[in-house]
Amino acid sequence: MGDSARILMTSPDHYEVCYAINPWMKPEEWAADQGQARHRAKGQWAALAAALQAAGMTIEVMPAEPGLPDLVFPANAAIVLDRRALLARFRHPERQGEEACFRRLFDGLRQQGRLDEVDQFPPEEFQEGAGDCIWDAERQWFWAGHGPRSTAASLDGIRRFFGRPVIGLELVTERFYHLDTCFAALSGGEILYYPAAFSAESRAILGELVPAERHIAATAEEAAAFSLNAVNIGRQLIMAPPPPRLRALLEERGYHCAALDLSSFVLSGGAAFCMTLRLDLTSRAAA
Ligand code: ARG
Repeated sequence: MGDSARILMTSPDHYEVCYAINPWMKPEEWAADQGQARHRAKGQWAALAAALQAAGMTIEVMPAEPGLPDLVFPANAAIVLDRRALLARFRHPERQGEEACFRRLFDGLRQQGRLDEVDQFPPEEFQEGAGDCIWDAERQWFWAGHGPRSTAASLDGIRRFFGRPVIGLELVTERFYHLDTCFAALSGGEILYYPAAFSAESRAILGELVPAERHIAATAEEAAAFSLNAVNIGRQLIMAPPPPRLRALLEERGYHCAALDLSSFVLSGGAAFCMTLRLDLTSRAAA
């Protein structure tokens, strides 16, 4: 591991909610409040960046592009581990224009010697980056979501490219369309997840692979507050405000919750985790 966590964020300068590709997105609500909405979003974004820096992380900011509002969610750009990046293919045409922006950025990182290899899923093998592929540092494997966005076929590509195990989890609701909306692998080895977002088979896999005392099951209300879409560094969780029951559970286990108003981004179906992408994750095999 490097000295400090390196995190990619995208400037919110062109962020807006102007189409709906998931059930949280409310373009009418955004439009009703034009000037204010953008202003509020910028303030929330800046507070998140400041909280991450206060927790010791180094932030790299990529410029925004007009017409690509969801570029603000770089978790969907790629899967990154061991100085290798596998670039996403977006399911919805509204987001496909982002692929070229992320390609430019990651090719640049490779040219600067900061990444060793950059590749991309084949077209139509949809896979939406770390938003659907979460590295579990404790278990040294990826948890990969498939269903609404990423295809089940993408899991093989992840396995081949990184040479690490990949555990597939099937997402069965439209509301929890990316794995990071309903699942987090915490630094203490707990999995925090919303059971109803997963198929019965996938819940059984979680039961087999993770001992019961390490399961933290979130309620529908906690999941809808985007509490699972958290950035976790050590014992710190930087997240949208968790409802009191969940906050108490996390604090009992020794986590500190830094709660931030991210409502402008929840209006697009995202929060802290997907507004970031870790660039520095390494497996023990590579260390
Ligand atoms: N509006 C974006 C979309 O629907 C939000 C993406 C949030 N990203 C995430 N990994 N949860 O694609």
